[in-house]
Order: sequence, then structure tokens, then C-alpha cells
Amino acid sequence: MHSCCARKIIVWILCLIFSLSHSILVCGSSPPKHLCRQDQRDALWEFKSEFPLSGMAADEKTQTWRNNSDCCSWDGITCDPKTGNVAELNLWGSSLNGPLRSSSDSIGDLKYLRVLGLSGCNLFGKLPSSLGNLSDLTVLELDGNGFTGELPVSIRNLKQLTKLLIASSKLSGNFHQALLNLTELTAINLVFNQLEGTLPSNMSTFSKLEYFNVGSNSFSGSVPSSLFMIPSLTYLNLERNHFNSLLEIGNISSPSKLQTLILGGNRLSGPIPGFISKLVELSSFDLSFWDTLRGDVDFSIFLHLKSLASLDISTLNTRSIVDMSLFSHFESLSILSLSRNTVKFSSTLHLVSPIGSLAVASCNISEFPKFLRTQTSLFNLDISQNQIKGNVPAWLWSLPGLAYVDFSLNSFTGFDGPADVFQRNEIYLLDISSNAFKNPFPLLPKSITFLSASDNQFSGEIPTTICQLDSLETLVLSNNNFSGSIPRCFEKFNTTLTVLHLQNNSLFGKFPEESVSVALISLDVGRNQLSGELPKSLINCTHLEFLNVEDNKFNDTFPFWLRLLPGLQILILRSNEFHGPIHYPGVFLSFPRLRIFDISKNLFSGALPLDYFSGWNAMSSDVYIADNKYMFKRNTFSSFNIASKGLEMILAGISFSIYKTVDISGNRFEGEIPKSISLLKGLIVLSMSNNAFIGHIPPSLSNLTNLESIDLSRNRLSGKIPAELRKLTFLAWMNFSYNNLEGPIPQGTQIQTQDSSSFLQNPGLCGAPLHKICSGEEQGTLNQDKEDEEEEQVLSWIAVAIAYVPGVFCGFIVGHILTSYRHDWFKRIFHYFS
Ligand SMILES: *[C@@H]1O[C@H](CO)[C@@H](O)[C@H](O)[C@H]1NC(C)=O
Ligand SMILES: *[C@@H]1O[C@H](CO)[C@@H](O)[C@H](O)[C@H]1NC(C)=O
Ligand SMILES: *[C@@H]1O[C@H](CO)[C@@H](O)[C@H](O)[C@H]1NC(C)=O
Ligand SMILES: *[C@@H]1O[C@H](CO)[C@@H](O)[C@H](O)[C@H]1NC(C)=O
Ligand SMILES: *[C@@H]1O[C@H](CO)[C@@H](O)[C@H](O)[C@H]1NC(C)=O
Ligand SMILES: *[C@@H]1O[C@H](CO)[C@@H](O)[C@H](O)[C@H]1NC(C)=O
Ligand SMILES: *[C@@H]1O[C@H](CO)[C@@H](O)[C@H](O)[C@H]1NC(C)=O
Ligand SMILES: *[C@@H]1O[C@H](CO)[C@@H](O)[C@H](O)[C@H]1NC(C)=O
Ligand SMILES: *[C@@H]1O[C@H](CO)[C@@H](O)[C@H](O)[C@H]1NC(C)=O
Ligand SMILES: *[C@@H]1O[C@H](CO)[C@@H](O)[C@H](O)[C@H]1NC(C)=O
Ligand SMILES: *[C@@H]1O[C@H](CO)[C@@H](O)[C@H](O)[C@H]1NC(C)=O
Ligand SMILES: *[C@@H]1O[C@H](CO)[C@@H](O)[C@H](O)[C@H]1NC(C)=O
Repeated sequence: MHSCCARKIIVWILCLIFSLSHSILVCGSSPPKHLCRQDQRDALWEFKSEFPLSGMAADEKTQTWRNNSDCCSWDGITCDPKTGNVAELNLWGSSLNGPLRSSSDSIGDLKYLRVLGLSGCNLFGKLPSSLGNLSDLTVLELDGNGFTGELPVSIRNLKQLTKLLIASSKLSGNFHQALLNLTELTAINLVFNQLEGTLPSNMSTFSKLEYFNVGSNSFSGSVPSSLFMIPSLTYLNLERNHFNSLLEIGNISSPSKLQTLILGGNRLSGPIPGFISKLVELSSFDLSFWDTLRGDVDFSIFLHLKSLASLDISTLNTRSIVDMSLFSHFESLSILSLSRNTVKFSSTLHLVSPIGSLAVASCNISEFPKFLRTQTSLFNLDISQNQIKGNVPAWLWSLPGLAYVDFSLNSFTGFDGPADVFQRNEIYLLDISSNAFKNPFPLLPKSITFLSASDNQFSGEIPTTICQLDSLETLVLSNNNFSGSIPRCFEKFNTTLTVLHLQNNSLFGKFPEESVSVALISLDVGRNQLSGELPKSLINCTHLEFLNVEDNKFNDTFPFWLRLLPGLQILILRSNEFHGPIHYPGVFLSFPRLRIFDISKNLFSGALPLDYFSGWNAMSSDVYIADNKYMFKRNTFSSFNIASKGLEMILAGISFSIYKTVDISGNRFEGEIPKSISLLKGLIVLSMSNNAFIGHIPPSLSNLTNLESIDLSRNRLSGKIPAELRKLTFLAWMNFSYNNLEGPIPQGTQIQTQDSSSFLQNPGLCGAPLHKICSGEEQGTLNQDKEDEEEEQVLSWIAVAIAYVPGVFCGFIVGHILTSYRHDWFKRIFHYFS
């Protein structure tokens, strides 16, 4: 993968050079003998006019097309010099913004087209079957669009096709059998789509294939051994699918030319097949997340792969120890990822090859790797999650190319060397979070863009030396003991800072208006003693997604102006001194992307209008949008308390990205519960306790079918608990205590298994789990429900069983995503670097 990125970029540059030289050639040659043909010009014109929204950008290629001129001279068009037919249509990067329509024949009319290049054109919809009419087509390049659905069957007619490139779209369905007929194919790239099913078992028909990439799809089943039999294949990428077996491939008939083999992030398990040692041309090899089921691995099989430049064998789940001396004689090894295996190395280890990137996260390392001292090419070092104590050695900072350094989750206490030991380096990322670092705070190199020093023991004022950095984008200082105020000099980053996390320190005073960066995506100053108003300058942070100011002393009215921030997903004002109404006549509050709304434990007051929660679209849907922006900036994850199931729990990491919560408890709200709450179908936690709500519990709450926790305790609610609430099968925790509710408690397993304390202090309430038995009249209403009760109970038992599953399931997913994103992060770093 790593060198694949590099390779991709190189390929891309080569392409660029090629296409430049190509067009120079075309321009340089004598003027074309033929003007373009009328029917083809019409077809092109029709094609252009199918995209009425295109041409917004000035550099748009179709913008320069003129109806009455020679179409062979149009930007993006190349004609055959002999016949005058349009042979190439290449609109790379134009914003066409529309579907490629199958009703229209304009594309099909260009039947002499040999190259169709519409990459990055913002096209969507299904691929039209008229593509199949382009029987001369050799290159179909449609990367980076939003195409959906399956490839058209007519694609089987493109018998001349050598390159099928439809990466990064939303194609679905199976790997098309019809493709097997396209025996001229040399390159197939379908990476980042939504394809599924198995690959055809006999892929030998692709006898000229050199490049095959179906990474990041959902293919499953076994990896066809026939792929390894294609003698011309040099690049094979199957990463991040659900492949679960790779057969032992006996004797590979002809010597394999495979240079890149990327299998990471699948569900492959068992012993690592020995045939790998025969792929002697391999330079890039990724086996990460292969599950050896705690088995042994004979790492010496890699010794045969003498050309290796990049090796990722992280997370093998093996009990074997990786001895680094294994790698001492490789000559071109540059990228080595061994994370989450046990690694050992001797103090005299010397690696011949110049290592650029070493990832040894979570490898049970307790000693700083001294062999790096001579590795002057090192640019990326991830040594996080080990047990290294003491100081970071000063010699590390004399490695001239060092740019990305992750020491997080160790037991480092300080830095060796003089105070300015860093200064000579061009370091971009420094993550020293979760160690035992103490003052003095290091004097950082000016180049740093990402700094995380959270979870250490730094104290005193936030060092203003931070303001000497040139272009800080991420600053995470949470969970230290910093005191004093937020430095005004943060103004320096007022256009660059995207993440500012200062949670859980002892900061006090006002939040300076000028210290707010307009680029902020995530701001977390929770658990300090900040006071005064929220800085109004936040209104200019149009990218803000996450705002947490919990547990401070902010004294302000509700920040209505936040409604102008369209991307806001998480708003936490919990435990402050906010006051006044959260609704203002004439101001329609809609938070279309908000997923967590926690304004609990403040002094808010007033009644909420019936339609208060309409327009909160993200909570109205039960689709979970995982948020990539947080994920890839790992270790900038914030955490905060939410009250759920009667417990305060800390949502940390990305688990908060799958929660949808409304918590307005502990305020002074009055009036009725707004009916519009039942629009928030995705809601998982609802808390309105400790207010002065009156009236009945809306039966429409039963529409909140994802609800796992509801707390309406300590209000002045009256009437019955609606029987409809039995339908809430995921509801695992509820609290209706301290109200004026009456009548029988509805019968349903998830209700009767609650503790009786959930219903206490309601004078008129009766039935299980309370000990108070309902009188005859009340019983009558119960019996009405009896008919469907049997069925209901079966369902409910299932529901109770299921209700606990999502938690476990989420935990699993979160863990999985976290590990795979960690993986991703490393790759991303490389990507930036290469
Ligand atoms: C372009 O040419 C075609 C055919 O010659 C004609 O039908 C169409 O109206 C023309 N469009 C414009 C905008 O001149
Ligand atoms: C494209 O091919 C289909 C048959 O596959 C045919 O019906 C249609 O007329 C063709 N369109 C053009 C423009 O040639
Ligand atoms: C190729 O196409 C022909 C008909 O055009 C069909 O009979 C044959 O099965 C196809 N082969 C594959 C491998 O799909
Ligand atoms: C796979 O396909 C090739 C080419 O069509 C054919 O020669 C070969 O016999 C097939 N192999 C198997 C195992 O079906
Ligand atoms: C591989 O080839 C060798 C000799 O070339 C032979 O002895 C061995 O049996 C073959 N193994 C398999 C699995 O075909
Ligand atoms: C981790 O390292 C310690 C010594 O540093 C050793 O005692 C322990 O057995 C190692 N654990 C594993 C799983 O190898
Ligand atoms: C707050 O930070 C301190 C260290 O300063 C840490 O011990 C504590 O666990 C943190 N609290 C939370 C809730 O993270
Ligand atoms: C935090 O810093 C204050 C001084 O600012 C000090 O009194 C206190 O002991 C420190 N707390 C910890 C846990 O180090
Ligand atoms: C950023 O700060 C500078 C002064 O340091 C000021 O001139 C500029 O207007 C500020 N920009 C924004 C977007 O607030
Ligand atoms: C928002 O930015 C504009 C333009 O930079 C500035 O004039 C305005 O004062 C800012 N608003 C706030 C509340 O800071
Ligand atoms: C909030 O500030 C106002 C005036 O600015 C003051 O009257 C009020 O007492 C403050 N509220 C709290 C809870 O401190
Ligand atoms: C919401 O619940 C009410 C009462 O249970 C029901 O009448 C209504 O159809 C539901 N609305 C939706 C959108 O499901």
C-alpha cells in the first residue's frame, strides 16, 4: 500500500508527463487534414448540453467548446489524424455535475472513440449501456465519480479494452462475469467501490493483466489462486475486503512477476502460506491483520523476498516473536510495519537498508531502539503503546528527515538534551500523549502542525512558546494540570487551527474572542473553570462540528447563533450557568446535522414549542454517519460524560459518533413535552429529568424505536404511562419516578425487568415492578392488552436479549474501527510524505 501510494503518484506524474508530451506532439504536428465530422460534433455538443450545471469553473474544458468550430480543436478532444474521427474525449477534473444518461446516445454516437476519460467529473447515476457501443474503446477511465449500480452488461462488447479504471465510485453488485471476456485488459482498477460477492475462480482469461486492484470493496470468499497464475501480473491489491481464504498455491508454473501484493485488512486466517517465499520479485507486501490464531509464524520465509521495499506484517495475532535481526540484510527495505506483534531487537542490531518508516506500535518494547541512531533516512516513527520509560534520547532529533513522531502511550518522563534540542528538525507531527512528561514543556520546532501532549503532567500556564510555531493546525493539551487563562497569542492561528482541545485542566477566566480560529472543526474546553460568555467569534467558524464546554462556569444565554453553523454535530453545554429560554419566538432553530445535544445541568427555563425538534434531520434518521474527520486525527478524540441508563458514562474515542442523544435534564423547563420529540427516530438516549414538565407522556414516544435509555423522572407529569412504550424493544433503561403518573404500568418484558425505583414516588401508579397491585378498574385496562400479550412477551424476551447486543456489537465495531484507523493513519502519513 505504502509504495502503492508512491507508485500511484509516480504513475500519475508519468501520465501527466505523457499526456503533456502527447498534446505537445499533437499540437506540434501539422494541422489535422480533416475537420471534425458533423455528426460527431453534434454528438459532442449534445453531450455537453446534457450537463446544464457544468461550466461554473473557468478552467472547465467544455467551456471553451464552440458549436461552429472544428471539434478536433476543442479542449479535451483528440481526433484521429487519418480519419478525422473523434478518438479521445478526456475531460479530467471538469465539473460536469450530472448523470451520464443512458437515454441519450451522444456517447454511443462517438463510436470511434478509443479513450474516454471522465475522471473526477462529478458524474453520478448508473453507467449507460450505450457505453457498449464504443467497440473501439481501449481506455475507459472514470475514476473519482459517484456512479452507482452495476456495470452495464454491454461492457462485454468492449473487446479492445485494455484499461478499465472506475476507482472511487459507488458501484455495487458482483464482479461482472462479462468482464472475463475482455481478454485484452492490462489494468483493472475498482478500488473504493461497494462491490460484493466472490471473484470468479478462473481469472486466467485475463492473460495480459498487469494491474488488478479491487481494494476497499466488500468481496468475500477465497482469493482465486488463478490470479497468481497470470504471468504478466505485477500489481495485486485486495486489501480491506472480506476475503477469508488464500489457498496454498503449490508450484507457481512460471516465475512470478508480482511486485506488489496487498492483502491487508481481510479476514484471512490460519498459517501463512509458504508459497509467498516464491514471489521473489515482491517489493511491496502487506499481510496486515492476517489472523494466525495465536499460531507460529516462520518469519524466515520473508528472507527470500530480497527486493522488499515495503513490508507490513502488523497485527498477525501470532505468538512468535519478530526478531528485528531478520531484517538486517535487506538492502532496499524502507517501510516496515510490525505493529501489534511482539518485537525484539538486540542493542547491537544494525540494519543495512535505510529505513524511512518504522511502525512498532504495541510491540512490547521497553527500551528505546538504539539502532535507529544510524538510520538517517527515518521520517516516520510510530513507537506508541509500548512500555518505554525515561527520557527521549537527544540523538533522535539529529536524524535530519524525521517528520512524524508518535510516542503516545508509553511512560516517558522527559527529553534529553538542551532546551532547543528539537529546533533543527522539520517535524510536522509530534504525539507525546499519555506518558508521564512533566515540565519544562519542550521548545518545539516551528514546523509542527499537529501537536498532542494530552494526558501528561504538565502544569503552570499554557506555554506561549507554542505561539512561536508557524502553522499549527491541531493542538491537544487535554488532561494535564495547566492553569491560567487561554493565551491571547493563539490569535496567531486564527486561520489555521482546526482542532483545539484543552479539556480537563485548571484554566480560568474568559475565553478570549480573538483566540478563536475561523478554521475550527473541533473545540473542547470542557472541565475547566472558564467563565463569562461563550466567545461570539465562534459564529465565524463555519466548519465547526464539535463544541464541548461542559463543566465550566460559562454564564450566558442560549447561543442561538449556533444555528448558523450548518455542520454542528455535537453541542455540549452541560454543567455551566447558562440561563434563559432555549427558544425564541420567530427564531427557527434547526440543527440539521446535530447528533448530540446536551445542555443539562444549567439554568435554562421556559416552555418549548410543540415543533421544537423539527428540522433536526440527523437525529430524525437512524443512519449513523461515522465521522472521518475525527477518525483520522486519532488521539485528538475527545471524551465527555453522558448520562445514559441512569449512569454517567464517558463517551470516548469514536463511540460518541454513533450516539444520538438529547439531554436537557437538570434545568427549569416547564410546559408540556414537545410532541416533535417523536420525530427524532434515531435517538438512543433521551433525558428530560429534573425539570418542571407537566401534562401527559406523549404516546408518540413509541416512534423512537432505537431508544435504549429514557429518563423523565422528577417532573410533574401526569396521566398514564402510554402502553405503546412496550414497542420500544431496545429500551433497556427507563426512569419515570417522582412524577404524578397514575394507572397500571404497561406490561412488557423490558418494562417489568426494570428496578421498581424507576417508578417510585408516583402516587397513582400500580402493577409490576411496583409492589402495589392495581385495583379491579385499573386491571380492566390491563386485560384489554392481554390478547396480544403472549406474542408480545416472546418478542420482548428476544428484545431484551438483543438490547444488550448492540452495546457489545458497537464496542466491537469501535474497537475494530479504531485499530483499522490506526493502521490507516500510518498509511496516511506515508501518503502525505510520498
Ligand atoms: C449547435 O449545433 C447543432 C447542430 O448543428 C444545433 O442543433 C444546435 O442548435 C447548436 N447549438 C447552439 C447553441 O448553437
Ligand atoms: C447502441 O447499441 C444498441 C444495441 O446494443 C443499439 O440498439 C443502439 O442503437 C446503439 N446506439 C448507437 C448510437 O449506435
Ligand atoms: C464471452 O462471450 C460469449 C458470447 O459473446 C459467451 O458465449 C462466453 O461465455 C463469454 N465468456 C465468458 C468467459 O464470459
Ligand atoms: C481457465 O480459463 C482458461 C482460459 O479460458 C482455460 O484455458 C483454462 O482451462 C481454465 N482453467 C480452469 C481450471 O478452468
Ligand atoms: C513442485 O515441483 C516439484 C519439482 O519441480 C515437485 O517435486 C513437487 O511435487 C511439486 N509440488 C506440487 C505441490 O506440485
Ligand atoms: C513483554 O516484555 C517483558 C519484558 O520486557 C516480558 O517479561 C514479557 O514476557 C513480554 N510479553 C510478551 C507477551 O512477550
Ligand atoms: C483529568 O486529568 C487528570 C490528570 O491531570 C487525570 O488524572 C484524570 O483522569 C482526568 N479526568 C478525566 C475525566 O479524564
Ligand atoms: C496542579 O497545579 C497546581 C498549581 O497550579 C498545584 O497546586 C497542584 O498540586 C497541581 N496538581 C497536580 C495533580 O499536579
Ligand atoms: C487574525 O488576526 C489578525 C491579527 O493578528 C487580524 O488582523 C485578522 O483579521 C484576524 N483574522 C480573522 C479571520 O479573525
Ligand atoms: C466574523 O468575521 C467578520 C469578518 O472577518 C468580522 O467582521 C466579524 O466581526 C466576525 N464576527 C464575530 C462575531 O467575531
Ligand atoms: C451571570 O451573570 C449575571 C450578570 O452578568 C449575574 O447577574 C448572574 O448572577 C450570573 N449568574 C451566575 C449563576 O453567576
Ligand atoms: C408516531 O406515533 C403515533 C402514535 O403512536 C402514530 O399515530 C404515528 O403514526 C407515528 N408517526 C410516525 C411517523 O411513525
